[in-house]
Amino acid sequence: MTTIDLQPVKGVRDFHPEDMRVRTWLFGLWREVARRYGFEEYDACVLESEELYTRKAGDEITKQLYNFATKGEDRVALRPEMTPSLARLVLGKGAALALPARWFAIPQCFRYENMQRGRKREHFQWNMDIIGLASVAAEAELMAAQVDFLRLAGLDVGTAKPDVVLRVSNRQVIQHFLAGLGIEGDSFAAVCVIIDKRDKIGDEATAVELAKLGLTAESSAAIISLLDTTGLDQVAAKVPADNPGLLALRELLALAEASGIAHLVKIDLSVIRGLSYYTGTVWELFDASGSLPRAIAGGGRYDKLMETFGGPPTPMVGFGFGDVVIVEILKERGLLPTPPRGIDDVVYPMAAAEFPVATRIAAFLRAQGRGVAVDYSGRRFKHVIGRAEADGAKRLLVLGGDEVKAGVVTVRTLGPEKVEEKVPLATFGA
Ligand code: HAM
Repeated sequence: MTTIDLQPVKGVRDFHPEDMRVRTWLFGLWREVARRYGFEEYDACVLESEELYTRKAGDEITKQLYNFATKGEDRVALRPEMTPSLARLVLGKGAALALPARWFAIPQCFRYENMQRGRKREHFQWNMDIIGLASVAAEAELMAAQVDFLRLAGLDVGTAKPDVVLRVSNRQVIQHFLAGLGIEGDSFAAVCVIIDKRDKIGDEATAVELAKLGLTAESSAAIISLLDTTGLDQVAAKVPADNPGLLALRELLALAEASGIAHLVKIDLSVIRGLSYYTGTVWELFDASGSLPRAIAGGGRYDKLMETFGGPPTPMVGFGFGDVVIVEILKERGLLPTPPRGIDDVVYPMAAAEFPVATRIAAFLRAQGRGVAVDYSGRRFKHVIGRAEADGAKRLLVLGGDEVKAGVVTVRTLGPEKVEEKVPLATFGA
């Protein structure tokens, strides 16, 4: 007999019931915040056509695809992100979709990544996207939603030393700067993919990569120096006053002020993001302590993606917020809850003869909406009560032969009080 490997496939997770309770809690907060902002939930299949992810700019995500041919020779992939599926769905709706639309989803995504802390080969990603709104009011709203979630999760987002920072840039700042150097269109997207890796590969390797795209050493140096700019004033000092990226950042900051999140925003041109489809605002949410170097969430404006799929010009902006990093951060700070199992009552028939009456009582209580587990194990009282307490049940209903004959059930309140009383079976519909 061969024994099976008990580990899940490398880089993916199992969710035991206790993990699942945490996941359900997290998704519940995400859904609650989405509801508060008027977003509608959508979904798509994790299996998509591979062509949805093929991009000229050489995005890393394309290289990390779990892709294969089906038995029918169709090229398919497990989605690495939700945005292309969203664009496909929106495009499919056509003019029937009332714009602006606010859509959210919590897809599971797969990327063949080098695993590190905060990075796995599978993750769940809360996405909120606004379709058909060109104003940076959309970005401000999305950032405010992220902050509302963090507040609900217990993080400090209100004081002068908050737990998180929103690092924000706008690709148009650099795009217009590069256009002045003759770099436009697809080359711009390719430049973004390279400079996004600068943190990892360093300035020298970045310049080498940029040279492969035909940039001179002077141009590369100029881009790299621009990337080191932080704060709106410094950006304004480096680019012309009518640079559309600068104007958008200024407007965004004013709206962030209005929604009470401006203190969390740090304008930082080194934020590029690795996805080539972004065209305007790009932002990343980080743990301010720097203990986890990975972004908690990332988003941006992608006003041209629909056109690359053959659709009409449609402004779109959104973010992806993974479950892995945030859970690590909440765990580190002792903020991760241990949600209860949701069992209110355990009904304990002491022998098989009492099974029918136990079953009737359980049905009666369930019909009232209570969570009921019947302990049919036949184990000793000590075990049963121990298990019921460990499961967080509030009451134990004991059905011994004598009790049933006397037409009563012993109801024991679990927890510190431990009150016990005999209650007529009729009270529980039995
Ligand atoms: P992204 O930056 O690639 O953006 O991913 C967004 C978030 O997903 C990350 O900040 C992180 O929380 C999580 N994430 C990504 N990869 C992994 C991984 N391997 N392991 C664990 N967590 C991960 C996007 O995917 C864009 N489609 C987001 C977006 C939506 N932009 C506009 N709308």
